[in-house]
Amino acid sequence: MWISEVKESKEGAEVSFKGIVLRQKGAYRYRVFDRTGEIWIDSDTPLTEGKAYRFYGKYKGGVVMVEEVEELVEIDIGDFLPFAEDPEGDERRFWKVVEAVEDGRLREFLRFVFEPIWDDFKRGVAAKKYHHAYIGGLLEHTANVGEIALKVAPMYRKNGIRVDLVIAGALLHDIGKVWELKIFPKFEYHEDYGKWGHIFMGASYIKEKGREFGLPEDLLLDLVHIILAHHGDYSKGSPVVPRIPEALLVHLIDNLDAQMNHVLKGGDRDSSV
Ligand SMILES: [Fe+2]
Ligand SMILES: [Fe+2]
Repeated sequence: MWISEVKESKEGAEVSFKGIVLRQKGAYRYRVFDRTGEIWIDSDTPLTEGKAYRFYGKYKGGVVMVEEVEELVEIDIGDFLPFAEDPEGDERRFWKVVEAVEDGRLREFLRFVFEPIWDDFKRGVAAKKYHHAYIGGLLEHTANVGEIALKVAPMYRKNGIRVDLVIAGALLHDIGKVWELKIFPKFEYHEDYGKWGHIFMGASYIKEKGREFGLPEDLLLDLVHIILAHHGDYSKGSPVVPRIPEALLVHLIDNLDAQMNHVLKGGDRDSSV
């Protein structure tokens, strides 16, 4: 059974389900979760936080009274955390956008920054809850923002918009989330880098990598500016507001995809994010 089903069981029903222990409260009470939700259980057998178990017991008063516990050694992480729908497709879409960058040096730079962190980036989440809050969500969101940038930016080429800069900025804007958020055992802010946040982490990573790569300083300044300004406003966590049209465009596209994902996954419209 999934935890969501356990919670719909009748009073006194026998239940059996898998869960990871999130935290302990008092001597016997534990909070456990799977990908469908969380529940309180009472267990005489001591349990360890972060470990997975199969539980057998009775559902009483909203709590599972555990009668038998079996520790699970091999687990499928997909039972406990939600995944993106099409991770391979997202990966293809992402690299296709990279290939669309016309400036060969900038294309090379994108490979240079993504390759060393690719495994973490691929598995990353875009937010704790608000949008793309599932494994692979960061890649899906980034591929979307990149694809939209690729469609929209050329419309303003005649007005002087640097299309390659918009596309590269779109792909890089949330790269710092690789450090800001951790995925196991729950989507949570990282105990260290969560204090610095993804805007700072992304900007500092790209600044360092840009110098190491030898990216022209004016291009590096604008790329880092796009990362710093992508939340659009001081009140939303950006230390600077967009000062070049390319940064404004990345901010608008980012917002578009984040809000659409939130609403399409059943969330309320929330214009404050
Ligand atoms: Fe962001
Ligand atoms: Fe974003």
